[in-house]
Amino acid sequence: MELKNRDEADGRSSLKGQVREFFDHQAATFERRAGLPEDCAREIARAVLEIGEARPRDLLAEIGPGTGQIGRWFSKEVRYVGIDLSVGMLREFRARLSDRVENRALVHADAQARWPLADGSTRVVFGSRAIHLLNHEHVASEMSRVSEARGATLIIGRVRREPQSLRARMAREMQERMRQRGFEGRGGEGQNRRLFEACSRRGAKIMDAVGVARWTVSASPKDSLDSWRSLVSLGGISVPFKLREEILMELEGWAERAFGSLDREFESEETYMLYPLRFI
Ligand SMILES: C[S@@+](CC[C@H](N)C(=O)[O-])C[C@H]1O[C@@H](n2cnc3c(N)ncnc32)[C@H](O)[C@@H]1O
Repeated sequence: MELKNRDEADGRSSLKGQVREFFDHQAATFERRAGLPEDCAREIARAVLEIGEARPRDLLAEIGPGTGQIGRWFSKEVRYVGIDLSVGMLREFRARLSDRVENRALVHADAQARWPLADGSTRVVFGSRAIHLLNHEHVASEMSRVSEARGATLIIGRVRREPQSLRARMAREMQERMRQRGFEGRGGEGQNRRLFEACSRRGAKIMDAVGVARWTVSASPKDSLDSWRSLVSLGGISVPFKLREEILMELEGWAERAFGSLDREFESEETYMLYPLRFI
């Protein structure tokens, strides 16, 4: 079964199992593949609290905190709850929190179901590289339910790459090959737009996007290929093993022609963006 059918009620539990397995499988190596520089992660946490106008004792919920790269840096003055489907990811996060447990809770739960948050309880909901994995109508409706009466902010975090960077070009080529075979990847601006529309319909105000951190990466085509080979899926969705190998072989050939060598390193800038929506 493909993850792209996630909105269908039938097979929901096996789909949930696949997503959980996918993230459990990569928990220990996630940061090697998708790590954020530590100073950037701290800055993102600071900016989320500022944009969300969080005050001491306010409740901040993070959806899909993963290994806690960002979650660990939220000030202890706010009450923090991280909600994640993957036990493996939460285990990594918990190990980090050992001496910082005050006002912190990590909950193993599926954010595609009712969020484990009381009605009207939450000041800020943050999701970094995770909200696009969820159904946008569900996120908008849960956000309306849990928002504090004096207002709340949903903040979506994602990494923006230069369109001509090696990683962006490799990802586009991969997505294109998936599309040719009938697989639709997730994420991207389209996904954001659908969520924004669903939130606007519930009265939320879309605020300006903010770039909060910037860093330089040096990457070769081989890095992207190795990283994809280390996963059990491609572009966030599961594809049969043979097909995955076929796509990666094709990509290898394309990259060799396009970049001259699989080992050649290219530098580019990446920006961490926050997209806030205010629920009043
Ligand atoms: C790409 S990781 C991002 C981790 C972290 N937020 C970061 O930016 O480093 C996505 C996270 O979302 C979690 N996740 C995916 N689907 C979920 C769901 N339905 N409910 C809760 N968490 C989910 C995964 O387990 C994983 O930890």
